[in-house]
Amino acid sequence: MAYLILQSTQERIENQQDIKNYLENNNVIYEHWDTSRLPEHLQENYALTDEDKQRILDAFEPEIKAISERRGYQASDVISLSETTPDLDQLLNNFQREHHHTDDEVRFVVSGNGVFVIQGQEQFFEVHLTPGDLISVPPNVRHYFTLDTSRKVVAVRIFVDEAGWVPVYDKE
Ligand SMILES: [Fe+2]
Repeated sequence: MAYLILQSTQERIENQQDIKNYLENNNVIYEHWDTSRLPEHLQENYALTDEDKQRILDAFEPEIKAISERRGYQASDVISLSETTPDLDQLLNNFQREHHHTDDEVRFVVSGNGVFVIQGQEQFFEVHLTPGDLISVPPNVRHYFTLDTSRKVVAVRIFVDEAGWVPVYDKE
């Protein structure tokens, strides 16, 4: 399950209801989906074939469909990052640049960990995601993405469309 770190005070929030409330107050959608239905060979596997990626999308089809209907999302895909990813350090450097999007940014963590650092009403906060966690960062909210020390993640990305997801690095 996810936990939060409030950056200015380093307060750690682990209670699931407190996490939900904090994220809701910042207009961040948070859900937890059941990953136990995934076949074992697709869990903690960072060398996925295209077929494996499609199986992951198929496994979560009901949840992806439900949130897509609610939020107008049109497409989804699966990404994998690990030590075997070429230029991982360069990719992470790029991800760690603060930006926003004009659409929601949606990530569902299948394996590993992902960290979103988001500008809240009062301070930046970190959302540490574990398998089963879904987050949607609202449009125009400054944020960046990184990995924790394990440096690996498999995530489903869900889009309104690719154009709206292009990062905007400069502040408005
Ligand atoms: Fe982003």
